[in-house]
Amino acid sequence: MAGVSRSAAEAFRHNAESYENLYRGEPAFPGAPPPDGIPWDIRQAQPRLMELEALGVIRGEVLDAGCGLGDNAIYLAGRGYSVTGLDSSPTAITQARARAADAGVQVRFDVADATDLTGYNGQFDTVIDSALYHCLDHDGRQAYANALHRATTPGARWFLYCFSGDNVNGVIAPMEAVPETEIRDILRNAGWRIDFLGPTTFLGNTSGFTGSFGKLPEAILRQMPPRQAEQMRRMAERMAAILPLIDHGRIHLPCNIVHATRLD
Ligand SMILES: C[S@@+](CC[C@H](N)C(=O)[O-])C[C@H]1O[C@@H](n2cnc3c(N)ncnc32)[C@H](O)[C@@H]1O
Repeated sequence: MAGVSRSAAEAFRHNAESYENLYRGEPAFPGAPPPDGIPWDIRQAQPRLMELEALGVIRGEVLDAGCGLGDNAIYLAGRGYSVTGLDSSPTAITQARARAADAGVQVRFDVADATDLTGYNGQFDTVIDSALYHCLDHDGRQAYANALHRATTPGARWFLYCFSGDNVNGVIAPMEAVPETEIRDILRNAGWRIDFLGPTTFLGNTSGFTGSFGKLPEAILRQMPPRQAEQMRRMAERMAAILPLIDHGRIHLPCNIVHATRLD
């Protein structure tokens, strides 16, 4: 039983299978309630990413790493960029292809593990990471940063959005923040220079927080790493108080944005 408990906790946070389950509309892991929605599915590009594009910093071949349902990649393709979207979830990639077809844009969507990226050497000039980095554990983040170094060209830029420990008008992230020092160490070790690291926001879908994210039974929370469980409890408490007041089903979550440049 103890072994089952540990694997459930790990699956919730780090396992590609739990994301695949969510995209299939199934509980992320055994014992969790089924999702009411995908917390990051807002059926449009992230507003902060749209602003980044408007500022003119995206160039060349673009990789959307952990693209999910593809709306960021589709937006960029609609603005004339050549974009590849990669995700470990086959169901997400199938749905992303359908969304691109509906939008009438060309995006190369493929199933791939971002911590490996074999077969993509030297292909990309810009990397967009919209909330993938914080889904990985420490070793996964290092492998991912190394893989991105191999998959990009010298001087490539990486724009990385990951949850922070801040709050947006009281709203906190559903996951523990990735410490800034860890981001700095991992990127430096992989040959990336950080040009900017600062606060921003990620737009979430409130229905995603009322299902598997917002109503986790106490029995499951007790199986999670204690700090992660505490973060989930605090977030759920705050969400329960404010969700009835929110229009349009959208909520801003606290993030850091990192602008990094590939060295050599
Ligand atoms: C929080 S979602 C963000 C999705 C999308 N970027 C967005 O902004 O809507 C994180 C995504 O990363 C994907 N993912 C998790 N681990 C991965 C890995 N090792 N390789 C590729 N994708 C991964 C998940 O399947 C999920 O689609």
